[in-house]
Amino acid sequence: MVKRFILGLIFIIEAATSYGQGRLAASFNKSWRFSLSADSSAIDPSFNDAKWRLLDVPHDWSIEGKFSKDHPATPGGGALPGGVGWYRKTFKLDKSYVGKQVFVEFDGVYMNSEVWINGHSLGVRPNGYISFSYNITPFLSPNGASNVMVVRVDNAKQPNSRWYSGCGIYRNVRLVATSPVYIPQWGVHVSTPKVASSVADVAVVTTVNNASSISSSVMLVTSIVDSKGKVVASSARNVVASGSSSVEQPQALSLQNPKLWSVESPYLYRVRSELLVDGKVVDTFYSPLGVRSFSFDVAKGFELNGKSMKINGVCLHHDLGCLGAAMNRRALERQLQILKAMGCNGVRTSHNPPAPELLQLCDSLGFIVMDEAFDMWKKQKNPFDYHLFWDKWHKKDLEDQVKRDRNHPSVMIWSIGNEIPEQWGDSVGKPIARELAAIVRSLDSSRPITAACNEVGQGNNIIQSGALDLVGYNYNHTKFASFPTDYPNRKFIATETVSALQTRGHYDHPSDSVRIWPTRWDIPLENGNPDFTCSSYENCRTPWGATHEDTWKLIKKHSFLSGQFIWTGFDYLGEPTPYPWPARSSYFGIVDLAGFPKDVYYMYQSEWCSKDVLHLFPHWNWKEGQVIDVWAYYNNADEVELFLNGRSLGVKRKVADDLHISWRVPFESGEIKAVSRFKGKVVKEVVRRTAGAPAKLVLTADRATITKSADDMCFVSVSVQDINGNECPNANNLVEFSIEGNAKIEGVDNGSPTYLGSLKASAIEAFKGKCVVAIKGVETKSKVRVKAHALGLEDGYVVIAIK
Ligand code: GAL
Repeated sequence: MVKRFILGLIFIIEAATSYGQGRLAASFNKSWRFSLSADSSAIDPSFNDAKWRLLDVPHDWSIEGKFSKDHPATPGGGALPGGVGWYRKTFKLDKSYVGKQVFVEFDGVYMNSEVWINGHSLGVRPNGYISFSYNITPFLSPNGASNVMVVRVDNAKQPNSRWYSGCGIYRNVRLVATSPVYIPQWGVHVSTPKVASSVADVAVVTTVNNASSISSSVMLVTSIVDSKGKVVASSARNVVASGSSSVEQPQALSLQNPKLWSVESPYLYRVRSELLVDGKVVDTFYSPLGVRSFSFDVAKGFELNGKSMKINGVCLHHDLGCLGAAMNRRALERQLQILKAMGCNGVRTSHNPPAPELLQLCDSLGFIVMDEAFDMWKKQKNPFDYHLFWDKWHKKDLEDQVKRDRNHPSVMIWSIGNEIPEQWGDSVGKPIARELAAIVRSLDSSRPITAACNEVGQGNNIIQSGALDLVGYNYNHTKFASFPTDYPNRKFIATETVSALQTRGHYDHPSDSVRIWPTRWDIPLENGNPDFTCSSYENCRTPWGATHEDTWKLIKKHSFLSGQFIWTGFDYLGEPTPYPWPARSSYFGIVDLAGFPKDVYYMYQSEWCSKDVLHLFPHWNWKEGQVIDVWAYYNNADEVELFLNGRSLGVKRKVADDLHISWRVPFESGEIKAVSRFKGKVVKEVVRRTAGAPAKLVLTADRATITKSADDMCFVSVSVQDINGNECPNANNLVEFSIEGNAKIEGVDNGSPTYLGSLKASAIEAFKGKCVVAIKGVETKSKVRVKAHALGLEDGYVVIAIK
């Protein structure tokens, strides 16, 4: 279905996602005017915004700015600008909107937003991560006349975040129109109180609103639709919706021989809710449904559908590297696919409500989500953070998060906070923890509640409050083993682990001496550190953290440890621990900011995936005679033999709980090769060759075909190679991108935490031999050729089809 909007003289066609009969839901992302230097005169509908920039949201103005240590966000917040931004959108609604209830839905605006329609304030929302909507019906101009929506976004008071937040209408916006009798936003609650292989009980509670003053007799038909669109269960109920009221209707459905949702096979049904008045469908609303049962057990840890397993999860912040915070479904899907290919099966939405797309993707890709609400309560972590809004907003924000997210089968844990200062000191932590847990339970009793605690001793108010179903440990791996004695009969989740530090492709020798960096959590490193790098062997970590290997060995060993969320899956903007400026993004990721895996990615892959893995590192470009530690991660084999220029350097095997093997090798240029074998038969072979001078650029697109949808994107990776096709591990050539055809560059990145050029440019230096460009298609049925050029090197090309 297509709806027409008129902006000035321009007709803008927006593709509407119809939720089904009786309801219109159109993207409201296109053609906003934007200014960073406006004032309240912009609220007036007659204000002339013709000179403002025209753009589409999701939009993040911070990422368009210049990195500088002087921005109030500080390098901890990503060293990018904040400020006050204004958005205006002029639109007309055609006659299909007459008599409808019209709502605008924002998935997230960072932060302190206020929205006006035709000069009327609809409300403010300080929380930059929460989704919200407004009913704009009473303020709309008559059919065919112009309407003006204005959004003010205030992120001037900083620091208000310990990581990069982004600024603006950085998530999607929709316009939804319903009949006067309708299901409100998040108005259907789906749960599966009983799941067995033969039958699942599905409980559905539907809210029916009646905006008219006349009472209405409504037939509510709730159906479960399978992935092929077939109705597999249904229930009909008559509901009396009195005038100007809201009524809740419970229904119980049963699903015969349900297909279960699991991380390996995330089967999804949908619940279709239809409202009929006088036999005519007046509203249709879809909710996700995944049928699964899960439990946390004091002794056995985590079980999904009756099968014991570990939650092998990672923590993620919301930025998408060079796109900043601006939501793009494909960019997020790419992150999750990279993690999935590592064997990761869990995501923690640290430390705030995620974009709705994250949960949709976790549902469909098979991730277990710990959905977290807050990074602080009443007590601040930064002068301008959410503590300022706590008293007025925490209840509403938490309720809205739970209502929005509770139907997602991927969500299996609620977290009411991360490293909350109230865990210590006076006892305010106890009543607040109880209040928050009660809010969550009143809306969803099907999932356990935790809090991510860095104080794990008996003095922790939040653990002592009795409000938590799962005791959540951040770090403190040395106390994992004694958990059953420290907390008898309590259930465990490692809410945050590791915080190891790595720069992709950088190696400090020797690999067996671990650098604890900074030396103490409360002493930041001074300026002038020589290299701003961290080593990619397992030999650099924070004092509060632990290495990946040490942590995983423990989780693997004890069955009562249900799993972990590693800090972090991807690098993120901000929090460049352990370094000061010019570092501006994190070193914690298993994958760098550009999406290139660091070596430890393959340790997890060798442990968490069944496919054959043999990963050999480091690269083979060193000084003659330099002693190099050569490591290999492998699985599905009982030995690995290493060869230097054809000579065997011996066979090694992992013993006991080893997760890697290593050799100490005096460097000799040429070729280092590892061969893994099982019972004498070769499983895999990997070779690293000494690379010569950079000679060419080799491009690889993550997908050969993309769509022109604003939500789609193609990531093209560049490898700087010598004449023989060996990647040059230290190459930092400036790579310039150009496009032949109808596509545009959305961002560039190289994964370096200290690169200070713009990530919205069309050129970037390679870092350790690699960089990436993100491309968006503009026109369908076309082919686009992406070209990469670097002075003195052979150009690289790749062709992408836009469908
Ligand atoms: C944790 C915190 C995270 C991040 C991490 C870095 O204590 O919860 O947000 O700051 O440390 O190691």
